[in-house]
Amino acid sequence: MSESVNVSIIYYSATGTVHALAQAAVEGAEKAGAQVRLRKVAETVPQEVINTREEWAQHVRDTADVAQATLDDVEWADVVLLGTPTRFGNPASQLRAFVETTGPLWFQGKLAGKVYSAFTSSSTEHGGQESTILALANTFYHWGGIIVPPGYTDPVKAQQGNPYGTSHVAGTGAPGETALGAARHQARRTVEIAAALKAGRTA
Ligand SMILES: Cc1cc2nc3c(=O)[nH]c(=O)nc-3n(C[C@H](O)[C@H](O)[C@H](O)COP(=O)(O)O)c2cc1C
Repeated sequence: MSESVNVSIIYYSATGTVHALAQAAVEGAEKAGAQVRLRKVAETVPQEVINTREEWAQHVRDTADVAQATLDDVEWADVVLLGTPTRFGNPASQLRAFVETTGPLWFQGKLAGKVYSAFTSSSTEHGGQESTILALANTFYHWGGIIVPPGYTDPVKAQQGNPYGTSHVAGTGAPGETALGAARHQARRTVEIAAALKAGRTA
């Protein structure tokens, strides 16, 4: 059913948490039959600043082979999933910087009608996960997107607990099966809805 759905998973991650969620989303989307691109956004922080935190520098090395997001990745996609750590309750500036390059696509109406969803992480439980996802949703509205939240549409969501999008409390350690399962489910659900939309549009 989902073979013709293209999914771009575009994320920023400094120390690997959001990257792990993004990889799980890749698994979920591929299992649903989608063509998937995993893309990191460009780093805007100087290397000497990154080097002040070994886990940050290590993650940059570990993900050197992940392709950098381009506007073509957005234009190509039927589903765009955005992932970002919380930064004072908002998306990371690195992801925002990429989002703010999409003006030409928006101007041509090429961002409208796609399926969008978002995921995040924060250090603490009440550190701004929902506000970060909702902040990205503001952009999805401007794009004329179809926002597909996970809600509580799978038992894993009752465990993971965030109906706005997958999220993980990084202060408790790396994402475990619950958060990874929620990311897989979120991606699968967006693929299924995009496939139904495509089928309806071509009917
Ligand atoms: C500038 C800055 C602001 C942050 N703001 C918050 C915050 O508001 N709430 C919170 O819980 N964590 C906050 N954090 C922690 C990050 O959200 C956390 O390190 C991140 O989710 C880990 O994801 P990553 O491993 O993908 O980089 C902040 C971190 C930085 C560097």
